[in-house]
Amino acid sequence: ATGAITIDPGYKNTGSCKSEITFLNGEEGVLRYRGYTIEDLAEKATFLEVSYLLIFGELPTASQLEKFENDIRKYTMVSEEMKSIIDGFPRTAHPMGVLSSLTSALTAFNPKSVNVENEKELYEAVCKTIGKFLVIATWTFRKRMGYPLNYYDNTKGYVENFMRLMFELPTGPYKVDPKVVAALDKLFILHADHEQNCSTSTVRIVGSSHAGLFASISAGVSALWGPLHGGANQAVLEMLQQIHDNGGDVAKFVLKAKDKNDPFRLMGFGHRVYKNFDPRAKIIKKAADDVLGTLGVEDPLLDIAKQLEKVALEDEYFKARNLYPNVDFYSGIIYRAMGIPVEMFTVLFAIGRLPGWIAQWKEMRLNKEPIGRPRQVYTGSPLRAFKEVKDR
Ligand code: SDX
Repeated sequence: ATGAITIDPGYKNTGSCKSEITFLNGEEGVLRYRGYTIEDLAEKATFLEVSYLLIFGELPTASQLEKFENDIRKYTMVSEEMKSIIDGFPRTAHPMGVLSSLTSALTAFNPKSVNVENEKELYEAVCKTIGKFLVIATWTFRKRMGYPLNYYDNTKGYVENFMRLMFELPTGPYKVDPKVVAALDKLFILHADHEQNCSTSTVRIVGSSHAGLFASISAGVSALWGPLHGGANQAVLEMLQQIHDNGGDVAKFVLKAKDKNDPFRLMGFGHRVYKNFDPRAKIIKKAADDVLGTLGVEDPLLDIAKQLEKVALEDEYFKARNLYPNVDFYSGIIYRAMGIPVEMFTVLFAIGRLPGWIAQWKEMRLNKEPIGRPRQVYTGSPLRAFKEVKDR
């Protein structure tokens, strides 16, 4: 028998674990990875540097970072048979569904489970996951376009490879704009971890049964896909487009978002923890102006987003509920300016969040966390006798 069970829907007031990785203060809008502020890291670090910090706990020295980048390069080839797996999908398949399947399929080619107590094995599994995930993530786009699947170029950097893997065609070399690489580095850093959000909690609970790292990450991809979570960055762009197609009438959509009988929510607004501005949204909003400026892109949807933010922040309903723009509100504007299609936005969130998922999975296993198995309050039928089908 157990003590009284209290139900906490969505775990709004439940702490699932102790963690040394990320610190959030929702009231003040503070976010730190291993004690470093997101502002410093986004401004001064690279995505792989921050990945190393999240996973191993310290900012790498120059030689540690170089070794990490080279060790990842050992695993950037994906088994050719994986191509026939992706060939089985229709071109219209959503990239997140394909990514989740391909991530899980990696287990078939790397069946040996990781002995997390063996530092070398764990390190190799980390490098393998980071190397292969980027390639298969871009393959989901190449499949949609009917393009041949590209290979990682070990002579180039991780983020530059992302753009090449996505856009380089056999017809000629693809020139990667260093400004785009810098902006993507920053965006991936801003998405890298966020304590016990829905997809990270999923990775932890799947991993708590000692399921493998690829299986746990695959589950995280599926959880992130939902429009209430990472899928919001795609939903924001679709919402902005809808407002644009409705003559830019933001007030009408703010009204819809407040109408309890209308399922419409202002996508990219609100957060379980931040009851203030999401610090990432602030940085991304500024980056949107910078990137569109340097790329010389005029996007009416950015203007609509700014108007929408202004109207919502002055609205009593939103103010009473501490609803502010979150990480997903402006990110899609930047991805769009880079020529990345809206169906790929959440895949980019997954690429950014990968090191966080790995770090949290590693911490959960090394802390020997027990298998996740909550209880419930039963509200179903009392005891009843079986009835033969002829008597029903
Ligand atoms: C991410 O957890 C993380 O850290 C996630 C994330 C990460 O880095 O991993 O930060 C990434 O997922 C950001 C969130 C992306 N999702 C969206 O932008 C979708 C729109 N947002 C909402 O669905 C909502 O705000 C959530 C899901 C983000 C948070 O939901 P909660 O904490 O369960 O809050 P709630 O739904 O109970 O809302 C509280 C009130 C309700 O009104 P009342 O019932 O009190 O009258 O606020 C209202 C809600 O109706 N509300 C909104 C709203 N969000 C909340 N009303 C209109 N538009 C919205 N966007």
